[in-house]
Amino acid sequence: MQRVLLDVDTGIDDTLAISYAVRSTELDVIGITTCFGNVSVDQATDNTLHVLEQLEVDIPIAKGEGKPLFHPMHKSYSTHFHGENGLANQSVSRSDKHLPKHASQFIIEQVKKYPHEITIICVGSLTNLALTIMQEPEIISLVKNVVVMGGAVRVPGNNQMHAEANIYADPEAADIVFRSGIPITLVGLDVTMKTALSKKEIQKWKNHNTKVSNFLYEITDYYIDRYRNYYGDRDYCALHDPLAVAVAIDPSLVTIEPMVVSIDLEGLYSYGRTVADLRERCTDKPNVNVCVAVDSERFLAHFLQHIV
Ligand code: RIB
Ligand code: CA
Repeated sequence: MQRVLLDVDTGIDDTLAISYAVRSTELDVIGITTCFGNVSVDQATDNTLHVLEQLEVDIPIAKGEGKPLFHPMHKSYSTHFHGENGLANQSVSRSDKHLPKHASQFIIEQVKKYPHEITIICVGSLTNLALTIMQEPEIISLVKNVVVMGGAVRVPGNNQMHAEANIYADPEAADIVFRSGIPITLVGLDVTMKTALSKKEIQKWKNHNTKVSNFLYEITDYYIDRYRNYYGDRDYCALHDPLAVAVAIDPSLVTIEPMVVSIDLEGLYSYGRTVADLRERCTDKPNVNVCVAVDSERFLAHFLQHIV
């Protein structure tokens, strides 16, 4: 089993990613760290504890950053997709059952405990990871891999014209991570927007009628409605965060191209854009393994097999 840490801004697709990772036989989720993004970091932490309670598993959770590293918040929370509390407005109680240490401290401890073994799956802003790297650069060479759900390399952004939400939430943090030399696999909108979970599929969760399947059905049904409301033309949602988990489980689900990728920190129209050097003769050393194509059918089949 592969040891993984999840860094989340729990949200609905984060919930699906957590459930998928916890239930997959290939991954051992040794801890979860939380950050701001879809909702505040406090809410993301409560939501994560709530999800683990639904799943009836006990995994250590460490709360992380509540705002970008160097600037005040500029991105609003994604309540239009995830509901006011990030979990489709389901009732979630406040809790302080998280570890009494910061996410970055927890990541450092775990990576040092299991050198070269841990894959970190980041499905929110890269703030916690950037802070971790700043505090303990040694982890760069001790982490096995970082799978990032974020960015849009050859496709438009979602939160902004060119920028994807997780990178846009804290571009300076993403810049630190991308320049650090830590191994990165980028699962961006190039591939996540090619995945789809339909109302028809989740109906089976409802028929399954367990505590977890009903919970996942309710929140995902809401998420698909919000997708239709936003895009106007679809009865499905993309599986952004679950695809990052899938790539950690089985990289053969995607086609990977090593590229030189930078984060735009200046652009008037493209602040937070993942800018790849796509020239035929790029002589710089690639810093990111970019997922450029996905076997969506095989991914969906694996996801559905494990999720409930
Ligand atoms: O752009 C999609 C990403 O933004 C997902 O991780 C979603 O949960 C939000 O954080
Ligand atoms: Ca997320």
